[in-house]
Amino acid sequence: MYDFSADSMDCAAAIEAGLSHYLTGARLSGPGPSADRLMEAMRYGSLEGGKRLRPLLVRQAASIFSIPREAALPAGLAVEMVHCYSLIHDDLPSMDDDDLRRGRPSVHRHYDEATAILAGDALLTHAFAVLSDPNCHPDPAVRIALVAELAAGSGAGGMVGGQMRDIEGEKGGFTDFEIATMQAMKTGALIRAAVRMGAILGGADARAFSALTAYAEAAGRAFQLADDILDVTATPEIMGKATGKDKDAGKQTIISRLGIEGARQMLDSTVNDAISALRTFGPRADGLRATARYFAAREK
Ligand code: IPE
Ligand code: IPE
Ligand code: MG
Ligand code: MG
Ligand code: MG
Repeated sequence: MYDFSADSMDCAAAIEAGLSHYLTGARLSGPGPSADRLMEAMRYGSLEGGKRLRPLLVRQAASIFSIPREAALPAGLAVEMVHCYSLIHDDLPSMDDDDLRRGRPSVHRHYDEATAILAGDALLTHAFAVLSDPNCHPDPAVRIALVAELAAGSGAGGMVGGQMRDIEGEKGGFTDFEIATMQAMKTGALIRAAVRMGAILGGADARAFSALTAYAEAAGRAFQLADDILDVTATPEIMGKATGKDKDAGKQTIISRLGIEGARQMLDSTVNDAISALRTFGPRADGLRATARYFAAREK
């Protein structure tokens, strides 16, 4: 029987240790030493906190193909570095202007805005250094495929493009389709990349790859739906970040269209869609099934 709580705790511990290992002056490539303040801010923005769900998805997708968890760790670290960078920038005054993240002052509050921008930039860049290192995978073709997948999920056609749409949406007037596109990009794209990176590590064939992509796209929708619901229903103490802000900021979410009950129903059916996409894998995909269920049931 797959034990979600044991696997997610194990993954979070491995990511914490891995980030601490990779985020040191000695590990950062470059012709010069990194500035201490920058390194501290990179560590502050990524260590000690976070559910580490994206690396868990990498590990679970890879495990379908019998890839051991240690072999999925560098790819998971890279996705988590991009995710942490996205949160640091998401909280900036010019973006969502949030003072609290993972139960602590956000990076620009603890340091300053310039340091937060640079720490995000450096985490993003370092993610690709981790993927291109032979320690990530012995086959350079696999490493290049991982780099391409993470770039696609993170960039203008993925997370960053979704963040732009999110900001544009504050003016209002989004259709349901535009809301869905924004969500698929700002949050879904990195979740999709995480699952597909696990599939790349596993050498998935075209059929498996497309089934996992369908899973990931539904799971990504579910994840942001839950985030938007929790913005209304949860407290900052539990979430470790401000809540009740989306409406005031004019954020375009499904809640403003369907209300909480409607959004919850949509969340449940989206999780079912994610699970249905895994049909061909049998019990090997129990990890991914459990994570999709967790996306809907999570309380933070
Ligand atoms: C929060 O992501 C930002 C969104 C994409 C909605 P998580 O809820 O995964 O944040 P952490 O990593 O656990 O802090
Ligand atoms: C976050 O969406 C998406 C990214 C960080 C890319 P939100 O702005 O809703 O995330 P939270 O609620 O601040 O974590
Ligand atoms: Mg945001
Ligand atoms: Mg935000
Ligand atoms: Mg949110």
